[in-house]
Amino acid sequence: MITVMINAINTYEVFIKQTLLEHLALDDTRDYVIITDTGVPKQWVTKVSSQLSNVVVFTVNAGEESKSLAVYQHLIAELQAHSMDKSTCLIALGGGMIGDLTGFIASTYYRGIDWINIPTTLLAMVDASIGGKVALNTTVSKNVIGAFYPPLKIMIDPLVLSTLPEKEMGNGYAEMIKIACIKDAEFLTVLERKSWSLNDQITHAIKLKKWFIEQDPYDLNVRKHLNFGHTVGHALEHLYQYQYSHGQCVAYGIRIMVHKTPFETRICRVLNAYNLIDVIAYDKPQLIKQIMHDKKKQKNAIEIIELSDFGQAIIRLIDPSALEHYIPEKGVLL
Ligand SMILES: NC(=O)c1ccc[n+]([C@@H]2O[C@H](COP(=O)([O-])OP(=O)(O)OC[C@H]3O[C@@H](n4cnc5c(N)ncnc54)[C@H](O)[C@@H]3O)[C@@H](O)[C@H]2O)c1
Repeated sequence: MITVMINAINTYEVFIKQTLLEHLALDDTRDYVIITDTGVPKQWVTKVSSQLSNVVVFTVNAGEESKSLAVYQHLIAELQAHSMDKSTCLIALGGGMIGDLTGFIASTYYRGIDWINIPTTLLAMVDASIGGKVALNTTVSKNVIGAFYPPLKIMIDPLVLSTLPEKEMGNGYAEMIKIACIKDAEFLTVLERKSWSLNDQITHAIKLKKWFIEQDPYDLNVRKHLNFGHTVGHALEHLYQYQYSHGQCVAYGIRIMVHKTPFETRICRVLNAYNLIDVIAYDKPQLIKQIMHDKKKQKNAIEIIELSDFGQAIIRLIDPSALEHYIPEKGVLL
């Protein structure tokens, strides 16, 4: 078993092991509520619930729409209907959507209850579950309502990825490529050559993210580098009503940020190797308008993350009019 200790806001551990789900060894004297979605295969839900004596399972619809105030309200009502109190422990069993939703419920129910995160997508393992950010979307933008509320622990069994569709794997790879671009040029080579096992890639990506969140738990400076590709990516995601996957949108955001820079050829080659190649035919004025809704907007300026070298990023605060210069007229794909 690999254990990564994280020391940011709270101290908690990430456990990584093939077959970890077979033997979770959770405290069986507690009441648990598993929150999952309709897309998570039943076999994983049964595997977890069958190891607990006092457990109920709440299943929401798969998809970003469930990360909403309406679903939040519904689940709070369900917790009350089941007489769940402050000693209850929630278990997020799903991708990043379920982690964000469950963590946000945990952060507010009785002013904060325990939760455990069992991520079941690659993106949630290497990115969303790490760092304590939990959130809901509004109808206008993503992750507008949120908190910093790390779980008790994160339990990763890479075997659950055996049921994950290829497209969803791509979302996780987009985040691994992103973190390699901003922090570890050698890891970019590893990803390009596909030279490590998936377990090792997951563990390394978690350790890289650990560095950022321990430096800057509340996202005030260096942690913002993790938004590389995301300012444009989130805007595309929202503009096209989640018709394109998060990974494709982030990959496209990365392509735009490295367009006509010395980093473009190599980074696009790595994105291509993971099939992150959708061309998103955006309308430039509309895209700029959506970017300005982004949570990183400060007064009338926007923060964007640029590469200063392979494995190094910088934050640039730009005027909205300067966005014109960053966004090509039409799609870019190398
Ligand atoms: N909190 C953070 O720091 C952070 C960081 C990055 C992303 N996020 C959030 O994460 C979300 C995206 O996460 P995601 O990409 O995991 O998407 P997701 O949670 O929507 O999951 C994608 C799909 O995979 C299905 N699924 C999950 N596990 C599966 C499995 N093992 N086998 C088969 N299908 C499975 C789900 O049902 C869903 O249909 C977004 O809401 C994003 O905002 C949060």
